Amino acid sequence: MTDTAPAARLSAEASVENVGTFPAGFRWGLATAAYQIEGAATEGGRGPSIWDTFSHTPGLSLHGDTGDIACDHYHRWESDLDLLASLGVGDYRLSVSWSRLQPSGAGDLNPVAVEFYRGVLAGLRDRGIRPLVTLYHWDLPQPLEDAGGWPARATAHAFADYAVRVVTALGDLAEDWVTLNEPWCSSFLGYGKGAHAPGRTDYRAAVHAAHHLNLAHGLAVAGIRAARPGASVGITNIVTDIVAASDGDEDAAAAVRLDATSNRVFLDPVYLGEYSPAVWSTLGARGLSDVVLDGDLDIISAPTDFAGVNHYQRVIASHDASQPFEVLEVPAEPATTSFGWSVIPASLTAVLTRVSREFTPLPVYVTENGASYADYVDPNGDVVDTERVAYLRGYLGAAADAIEAGVDLRGYYAWSFLDNFEWAEGYSKRFGLVWVDYRTQERIPKLSAHWYRRLIAEHRSILIPR
Ligand code: FCB
Repeated sequence: MTDTAPAARLSAEASVENVGTFPAGFRWGLATAAYQIEGAATEGGRGPSIWDTFSHTPGLSLHGDTGDIACDHYHRWESDLDLLASLGVGDYRLSVSWSRLQPSGAGDLNPVAVEFYRGVLAGLRDRGIRPLVTLYHWDLPQPLEDAGGWPARATAHAFADYAVRVVTALGDLAEDWVTLNEPWCSSFLGYGKGAHAPGRTDYRAAVHAAHHLNLAHGLAVAGIRAARPGASVGITNIVTDIVAASDGDEDAAAAVRLDATSNRVFLDPVYLGEYSPAVWSTLGARGLSDVVLDGDLDIISAPTDFAGVNHYQRVIASHDASQPFEVLEVPAEPATTSFGWSVIPASLTAVLTRVSREFTPLPVYVTENGASYADYVDPNGDVVDTERVAYLRGYLGAAADAIEAGVDLRGYYAWSFLDNFEWAEGYSKRFGLVWVDYRTQERIPKLSAHWYRRLIAEHRSILIPR
């Protein structure tokens, strides 16, 4: 952050009232993912991932946008970490790229990539920032997709092997590890709807992928425990707040099915050691019974140290025979982000209390929450994202409400540190607390960044003891 007049003015405007009470040691963080920020897609021995293939296939990502350059973080990581430190965050969630670390999807890690991530992790430590490292944020090496991808059981074993190698190579610099980010997106969006890489449209394959992602998580937990006994490990799931469109039986059943395919198929096996009847009745004959083998659920439910929750929206479910799983899913009103996603802070309280009451007593982290808006640089050179400030204020208040209700919430990582490559939406959706000019790579902290910095500073001084 610079000391220029605009920044100083925004800082003064970023008034912070007490949004709620947070426990001592609460982790205030920001989050990113490798493919969305790194760029350098063909440098340092990186191989193609399914997202390179997808984004380079005409018509699949908006305007043909790719992550080839993105935020050029691969070359700018040191100044980016300085910027991160200047925002006052003590915690940062990043992902490491599988296709950079193990381009073929097997065998020894790429030493150039190991050196890169060791530099980043040491750089965070030097700046007093604690990393939370995600091992898989959707960048499956293309050779593994060519061999069958997540619908193939072998991919789960390949992931566990990769995870052990990474934690062995980097685990002296990071204690906290997330195995997978949002396996719902990897499976149902990637193999069912086809909106994400690899762009397949086969819901049976998506269900196979979902189970193999769960299995990959469980196998990786066991491997990580053996390789680094002191490591703290968990999984991040997106947890969507689902409401039936009406009191009618058909819509209620549709909501149960949507909950099964969005939430339960991932939360049940990890935290409860089973697929519940709602999951079996929705997915059993649609692929799940093809792939669940004896012993899998014991592997998947290996104890973890925390639960990662990403939360973005409430959706309304109604019965519609023409839709996958006979559910039509629409964002709840008011849909006010530029993605058309709902802004209903109470949904965050609802999903956090649900995770802790129905699924696990483990400490919980909000590993992502945030919003895209039509931000712009104004004639003063400022990005006055008052909508995002209101969003963060609302959702952090909702997080505090969850704590008040008894949820053992230990941290919140806003999505995202930087504007970045928003997957199939390319560069059209800006989620950052920091603006990125993709042409010049200039970074401008938005009003929300100033607000967040002050919030963190104020809450550090009014923390209640746990
Ligand atoms: C989540 C993803 C993250 C980002 C946000 C907006 O589903 O994990 O990478 O794209 O959505």
